Amino acid sequence: MVEKQITAKIHFCTIQELPEAEKMLVAFAKEAAIKAYAPYSLFRVGAALLLENGQVVTGNNQENAAYPSGLCAERVALFYANANWPKWPVTCMAIAATSVDGFTARPVSPCGSCRQVLLESEMRFATPIRLLLYGEDAICRVDSAADLLPLSFNKGYLRP
Ligand code: THU
Repeated sequence: MVEKQITAKIHFCTIQELPEAEKMLVAFAKEAAIKAYAPYSLFRVGAALLLENGQVVTGNNQENAAYPSGLCAERVALFYANANWPKWPVTCMAIAATSVDGFTARPVSPCGSCRQVLLESEMRFATPIRLLLYGEDAICRVDSAADLLPLSFNKGYLRP
């Protein structure tokens, strides 16, 4: 049996260490989180993405009484961006979440389905998406969605 190791580079920093454009994106994500519709989980998530043309698009989680009908913040933002600016790659996305006692202390990490959709967008435009995962105690920076989804399913499997 062959054992292989998969490694991913992740960075931890403070908000002060981020460049201005990224600080702004984090601020947009926090603002979006506050406007989320999350009456069931009370966990409000905001996502703010930057397109290569400079456009910022935000989204937040939209829950539903029929629970599986809701959608995560990241996919609300990504689908809106891809629907309206289909030619422009996403270059960066900031994510922040607030629960009943304020913004999370730990950096919030996107769920598996959102990672899959982020990766599709990355591959579609052959442009890595930098992720800024906000937490009150630290910000986690990942330079490509692919780093968060090793052994991913992708279009290569559909038409080999
Ligand atoms: N949620 C997101 O919006 N993004 C994620 O990556 C994880 C979870 C939402 C879905 C649901 O509305 C709430 O957070 C609790 O799971």
